[in-house]
Formats: sequence, structure tokens, C-alpha cells
Amino acid sequence: MKKKISQQLSIATRAIHGKKLFAFKGPVATPIYQTSTYRFETSEDAIRYAKGDPTVYVYSRYHNPTVHDVEEKLALIENGETAVLFSSGMAAITTAILAVTKAGNNIISTPALYGGTYRWMRDELPKQNIGVRFIDPNHLAEISHAADERTTIVYIETPTNPTLTIVDIAEAVRQTKKAGKRLSRPILTMIDNTFATIINQDPFKLGIDVVTESATKYLGGHTDILAGVVVGKEEFVKRVRMLGKYHGGCADPFAAYLLGRSLKTFELRVHRQNENALALAHALEKNKKVNRVIYPGLPSHPQFQIAKKQMTGFGGMVTIEVKPAKRYSPVETAAKVCDNLKVAVNAMSLGGVETLVSIPVYSSHIFMSDAELKRHGVTAGMIRISVGVEGIEDLIEDFEQALNNI
Ligand SMILES: Cc1ncc(COP(=O)(O)O)c(C=O)c1O
Repeated sequence: MKKKISQQLSIATRAIHGKKLFAFKGPVATPIYQTSTYRFETSEDAIRYAKGDPTVYVYSRYHNPTVHDVEEKLALIENGETAVLFSSGMAAITTAILAVTKAGNNIISTPALYGGTYRWMRDELPKQNIGVRFIDPNHLAEISHAADERTTIVYIETPTNPTLTIVDIAEAVRQTKKAGKRLSRPILTMIDNTFATIINQDPFKLGIDVVTESATKYLGGHTDILAGVVVGKEEFVKRVRMLGKYHGGCADPFAAYLLGRSLKTFELRVHRQNENALALAHALEKNKKVNRVIYPGLPSHPQFQIAKKQMTGFGGMVTIEVKPAKRYSPVETAAKVCDNLKVAVNAMSLGGVETLVSIPVYSSHIFMSDAELKRHGVTAGMIRISVGVEGIEDLIEDFEQALNNI
């Protein structure tokens, strides 16, 4: 009996089978269509394409079957209408914002963002005469005051990189709707869900309009691809797709293939990362060489109650602030700890099966003034840990020896 593939199936099942669960005859693994262009059977195909038939493939910057297969799966697991894949998270974020924002418009965001996104907003948007109004994520009522008839988007990230600040998603949506009502125009809410992923947080359920994600991180999960995704309503994603064609940040078929392969273990990996991160955070909280452990699943986290309300798991990211050793400055101490690690890898990025550590002031938060770092809550002694799926006893032992040996 044929069963309708629906979002009632678990995320794990959707991530493995996509829409092919009952109806598809062909290879079990999606082939890699490593081609830039497509052979027409006759010019009839070209004519059909020119008349707007979306089923005719013509050129891989526009569409590719391997990429399309992953887009379909991503829309399905993210509970969105449709998805478009990009060559990186930054390509996804910037294209999504620019698709609906032009010179003279403004967007609203919080300063606590991934450094790359923040710097793009700070340095690049003003060059295009697009304003950015940063509001305090702990005072979301500021959205109402910051919004005017030229505001297109309220953009948030939660948990934030690297301070793991939690923004109340439902409240951000409520304040945006209120502002939209006052101004008699809809303002879109957009979230970067990279840190939590759909396994731990469902932004659409909380009223968000657009989800963006760096698929380089948890969705990819193996530290071997760059990709990004935008998920939302058909009408909006169509505009993003169109701009993406011109800007050219399209996904490569091989990266899409690897992403599709990774999605099959996505749920398993993220659950294990959640478990490992919580256990490591508890262990590090007891360590005398650590000043502060920031993890949304710890009752000591300033927004623990909000995290509990909107997250089903607390993610694989833990940030610690080391106690400066006698001979070293805070950042030197952090560097020594990173150098002492034997299992965890000293490398940027996050979300992979291997535990990675990085020092925010040397990585995601370079090129920021002291005032900006303060506003972002980033300190010199911070180490951001992306907890992998290794044996938790090995990770705890590794961090303990690294901290105790400074
Ligand atoms: C939260 C977050 N969003 C977006 C990005 C950008 O993603 P990508 O490096 O795939 O462009 C990153 C990269 O570190 C990130 O951490």
C-alpha cells in the first residue's frame, strides 16, 4: 500500500529516504550528475525550457539533479515548503537577505552573530545603502522601535556563535509581527539555525519565515564540504533562487552528493553530539582551571529557561573561558590549552564528527574592536568547542590533561 510521504514521518526517516520511500525505481544512492550542462533530445526541449517548463534541465548553475535531490530532502526535514542549496552558508545568508532588500531599505539584527555575517552587515550592506539596526537580543521589544516602513527583515541567530546566547524566537516573531501591523506591511523573520539544527530547534513551528543554515557544519557533519541552505515559502525561495543564479553561488554536485550522504546519519550524529556536549560541559564546570562554562543545557546559562522552552536538545557547542595561568595572558592561556589537546583538533569550523576547538578572537571574531567584542560578549580567554562523536571518556580526559598541564 502506498503511504503518503509526509512530515509525520520522523526526521531520521525523511533524511534517509527523502520523497523516494515508496514510489521511486532506480539507484538507492543518488548519482552524482557531475555535469555543467545537459544534452537536449531535440530542440523541442530548449523550446519547452524557454516557455518555462521547470522539468527541463539546461545548465548546472540553474539546477542539477543531485543538488535538487538534496534540496528536496532539506525542505522535507526542515519542515519548510521548499529549499535552495548554495556553495556556502555565507552565500545562502547574503543571497537570502539581498533577494528582498534593496538600496534605501534596512534590516534589523542583533550584534551577537557569527562574525562573518556581522562583518558583512557592518561593512558591506552600508556600501549598498542598506541600513543595519542592531538591537539587544535580551530586549526584543526594541524591534518595534527600530522597524520603519523601509525594514525588510528581522534577522536572528540562536544559539549565537560563539557566546551561545539564546534569543527568544517566539518573542522575536511576536515583536516583528507587531511592528509589521503598526506599519501595515509584512516584515520577514529570518534565522540562522546552524548551531541548533532542526534536530534541536524548529524555527518554522515558532513562526519564523525563513531558515538559513551553513550546511558546512552539522548537516554536512564530516568537515569535508562547504554548503549553505535557505528554506522557506515557495514565493520567497523563488526570488532567492533567481538572485542566486546571477550571483553564482550555486552548490556543486559533488558537495551536494556528500551532503545527501551525510543527511542519512544527521540525526544520529546530532543526538550523540548533544549527549557528549552536555557531559563535557558538566565535567568542565567542575574544573578549577575554567572560569566559566557556557552551554544552553546548563542551569547556570543565563537564558536556560528560554533554551528549555524552544529547544528539544541543547546542541554540540560548548564555550569555556579559561582562568589565566600565572605566566600567560588570557589568550595565551587559551592557546596553550588548545595546543595541549591530543584528541580534540585545533581547527576552525564546527559541527563535524571530530571535536574541534578554536579561539574566537583569533577566528570568528577577528577584525573587531574591543568595544565590539564587548558588545558581542567575546573575551580573550574563550575557547569554543565543537563537540564531536568520539567516546566521551576520551574527550573529558583530553580536556582535563590539557587544562591541568598549563
Ligand atoms: C553560525 C554560522 N552561520 C554561518 C556561517 C557561514 O557558513 P559558511 O562557512 O558555510 O559560509 C558560519 C561559519 O562558521 C557559522 O558559524
